[in-house]
Amino acid sequence: MIDLSGKVAVVTGSGRGLGKGIVMKLASLGAETIVSDIDDRSIQETVQEIQSYGGKAFGKACNVSQPDEAEEFVQEVIARYGTIDILVNNAGINRDAMMHKMSVEEWQQVMNVNINGVFYMMQPAVKVMREKESGSVINISSASWQGNIGQANYAAAKAGVIGLTKTAAKELGKKGVTVNAICPGFIETDMTRGVPDHVWDMMVNKIALGRAGQPEDVANCIAFLASEQANYITGEVINVGGGMVL
Ligand code: NAI
Repeated sequence: MIDLSGKVAVVTGSGRGLGKGIVMKLASLGAETIVSDIDDRSIQETVQEIQSYGGKAFGKACNVSQPDEAEEFVQEVIARYGTIDILVNNAGINRDAMMHKMSVEEWQQVMNVNINGVFYMMQPAVKVMREKESGSVINISSASWQGNIGQANYAAAKAGVIGLTKTAAKELGKKGVTVNAICPGFIETDMTRGVPDHVWDMMVNKIALGRAGQPEDVANCIAFLASEQANYITGEVINVGGGMVL
């Protein structure tokens, strides 16, 4: 049984979708959760939902693509709780286009959130983890990191997340901090719900288990990585995609 009682857990982009599933799972296992997003209303809704089943949650907005805001956010969490034990870098966006049609703005927006944002959050958070010689960072990459038509920006950022994860795992291992990446496959959230029916069917056909994933499928793996049971696992990249990439 996973018990996260007494652990302080930050999940970025947790107002909805995968992040919401993750933060709710961590709270259900006893963690003190910090729900963070750029969207205030979704933060409040998620906090209320967690509190309604007796979970511990505090909400605070943070745009991870702004380095000063990320630093200030981390410092505020540390001032309030004294530490961060679990950091899940989940916030992400897509701006899909074929490369020859992709605007510089679409490239930069995705880089700013999906890779720069992970660094901006990790840098101040791992300082406190290094000092107390424990902590767990889980970065959300994507099955698309290996390349996907129409996603040059997204795939490049998600591949970057893996390089950052492995480097951080090597730098922080002797300090008792684990750093892992998860590659979700095709998970039912606002990011995927908008795809045309034929694309949905094509994606599901690629999945060995024959269904799109749910946020909880990913959250279960994250809960394990965040727990004491996983403290000898670091620098790994774990596919949670129902066998989409085999
Ligand atoms: P979503 O679009 O449903 O939710 C993303 C959340 O991040 C939203 O609440 C949004 O407000 C927040 N967000 C966006 N920009 C932000 C910023 N600058 N700072 C803070 N928060 C921000 O997306 P979904 O599907 O829940 O995706 C979550 C993560 O999982 C992303 O990193 C995505 O790339 C990744 N992923 C999702 C897959 C899927 O099939 N849904 C597959 C593989 C990876």
